[in-house]
Amino acid sequence: MSDILTPVLTSRWAQENSWTLETYERTGGYRAMRTALAGHPDQLIQLCKDSGLRGRGGAGFPTGMKWSFIPQGGEGAGAKPKYLVINADEGEPGTCKDIPTMMADPHSLIEGCIITSYAIRANFCAIYVRGEALHPIRRLRAAVAEAYAQGYLGTDILGTGFDLEIVVHAGAGAYICGEETALLDSLEGRRGQPRLKPPFPATAGLYASPTVVNNVETIASVPYIVAGGAEWFRTMGSEKSPGPKIYSVSGHVERPGQYEAPMGITLRTLLELAGGMKDGIPLKFWTPGGSSTPMFTAEHLDVPLDFEGAAGAGSMLGTTAVQVFNETVSVPWAVMKWTEFYKHESCGKCTPCREGTYWLVQILERMVHGEGTESDVETLLDVCDNILGRSFCALGDGATSPITSGIKYFRQEFLDLIAEQPAVARPEQLADVE
Ligand code: NAI
Ligand code: SF4
Repeated sequence: MSDILTPVLTSRWAQENSWTLETYERTGGYRAMRTALAGHPDQLIQLCKDSGLRGRGGAGFPTGMKWSFIPQGGEGAGAKPKYLVINADEGEPGTCKDIPTMMADPHSLIEGCIITSYAIRANFCAIYVRGEALHPIRRLRAAVAEAYAQGYLGTDILGTGFDLEIVVHAGAGAYICGEETALLDSLEGRRGQPRLKPPFPATAGLYASPTVVNNVETIASVPYIVAGGAEWFRTMGSEKSPGPKIYSVSGHVERPGQYEAPMGITLRTLLELAGGMKDGIPLKFWTPGGSSTPMFTAEHLDVPLDFEGAAGAGSMLGTTAVQVFNETVSVPWAVMKWTEFYKHESCGKCTPCREGTYWLVQILERMVHGEGTESDVETLLDVCDNILGRSFCALGDGATSPITSGIKYFRQEFLDLIAEQPAVARPEQLADVE
């Protein structure tokens, strides 16, 4: 496997006016849609399965399989309208791949929506964008309007008899609305809180109808698969995690930003692409896929960043939000900041997460401010143990990751806080982190 690839998903980003329909079509855009609409929907589902595309939102669920779960025909769920919902509520700390995609290349997402909707026989698609992302929302709405004007959306698209309406919906800035069922509740006009699964959205999603919920990057990959074929897609990445991926690299590196690479790239290579550690100060810890994925250390430079590689090394691939921290950063302080985020974003539906994140913050704050007690490390682990696997959704589990992995690799640093009672962690430590 080559570590570097010819850009696919980011191939248009450097083009002048890359977000316009004119640029998109001049560079081959909307040809895959024509190919797709000329074929049978089931062929597209099979193509997606053959490509091995897995969800880019973090969980890595096989995309073609998810599409195939949508019941078709007959009575009951199969007779209901089908929906496609795009999860563009990108909110995982450090994650910045979908927003740039919508800014630089919104038509790749729209073309992917058209192809996917046709495959699953949906005539309505909602793109749920994180509320703070005002510019992407405006850009996406402008691109959708261009697509309508060109006859790529609306009724009888290109004379094929296929109708599709796309609505760009602005969320209200709640992290929990990135959880797919909370997102659906929010889209229906209710307070966004996770639903019990099963039923999964594929059988009872938006308005209790069969719904595919997919991430922006997942669906933006679809036109390339239709154009290039499943075999071509599999030439990138690893056998079980094929294809290209956008890694958001932030923190103490010389050039933070988005780096497209084959699945399975290592941090060692990503650091080379990002110009190395900022000012040459050595690496201390990093996240492979946002703060909800257990942290890694300098020992994990060669872990393949695909679903299997990250899991095999004791973490998860997550959103491929690679946050890099150098030796100047206090682990307990960083862990406290992440935990404050989870406490703030906990939706309050279930007790382990709602109460647990509150107590985790209380303990971490007193430790970091030199007021910890000897039993605090064990108490932190005990509270995490009572959240993990006992929470209603993945947010609760994710909240424990920074703490348990931080203590796993840097226990002494937590203990030193108690022994020396120093206020070692200062907010300005991260002042130069982008
Ligand atoms: P999950 O593993 O429960 O589900 C993944 C997808 O597969 C969902 O769409 C689900 O409906 C579908 N699915 C799973 N089993 C199914 C079945 N038996 N039948 C039909 N469909 C099925 O994971 P979840 O809770 O949806 O997402 C967790 C991930 O989200 C984490 O790995 C985390 O990295 C990521 N995440 C991403 C964020 C972002 O900003 N992109 C924010 C927070 C978390
Ligand atoms: Fe809400 Fe947290 Fe429970 Fe998820 S785990 S339902 S975010 S309280």
